[in-house]
Amino acid sequence: MKEISPSILNADLFKIKKIFKSFASANIKSVHLDIMDGVFVPNISFGPMLIKQLSKYKKNLQFISHLMIINPERYIEDFYKAGSDGIIIHQEATTHLHSTLLKIKSFNIRAGVSINPSTPVSVLEDVLDLLDEVLIMSVNPGFGGQKFIEHSYQKIEKLVTLFEDHDNENIAISIDGGVNINNLPKLFNYGVDVAIIGSAIFKNKDLEKTLSEFNKITERR
Ligand code: DX5
Ligand code: ZN
Repeated sequence: MKEISPSILNADLFKIKKIFKSFASANIKSVHLDIMDGVFVPNISFGPMLIKQLSKYKKNLQFISHLMIINPERYIEDFYKAGSDGIIIHQEATTHLHSTLLKIKSFNIRAGVSINPSTPVSVLEDVLDLLDEVLIMSVNPGFGGQKFIEHSYQKIEKLVTLFEDHDNENIAISIDGGVNINNLPKLFNYGVDVAIIGSAIFKNKDLEKTLSEFNKITERR
């Protein structure tokens, strides 16, 4: 099933209760939380303490934490306890990808790996059995509102082939960065299952109208 997952990086967090209600009415299943440490990426966002506060209002929404932090293995438990239903780590940020994924799975939540634009999909070959999700960064991580990198389409194709070759076709493919109403149909056609969308949702004043426009695309799939 195809879905969109809003990134609340640039949302007005003082209005989060209302925002989550709009997500639920628009049949949104998951919320994307961008965690940045100012080291792995040139920006700092928020951490487990804020996620814990937001969890009070999440109801049935799934919280997926995208850790753009160095040595994520140190913080898996904290993000789990804060209310994450899934954790995505960066392949480039840990020396021990395999054991870090095992750690995520030990909490019985979704385990995912993200790769930067310069990282080939082939680095995932030996951890496929541990994955629920692969997230392809279609911008260099750190900021919302950047331009989609066109080369990402080729990476999606390569990932689809990698999954087919290893009979791992139930791993979800996510795309993150620069996704909008214009490139979303093409991304779904290439095999994306989950599209992370930040500024193309929150730059508009009318959240419900914007979500229904995106839903028109997902519902056709
Ligand atoms: C970038 C983040 C993304 C990003 C999405 O480092 O991982 O989730 O904020 O935002 P847009 O849709 O604005 O590119
Ligand atoms: Zn993200």
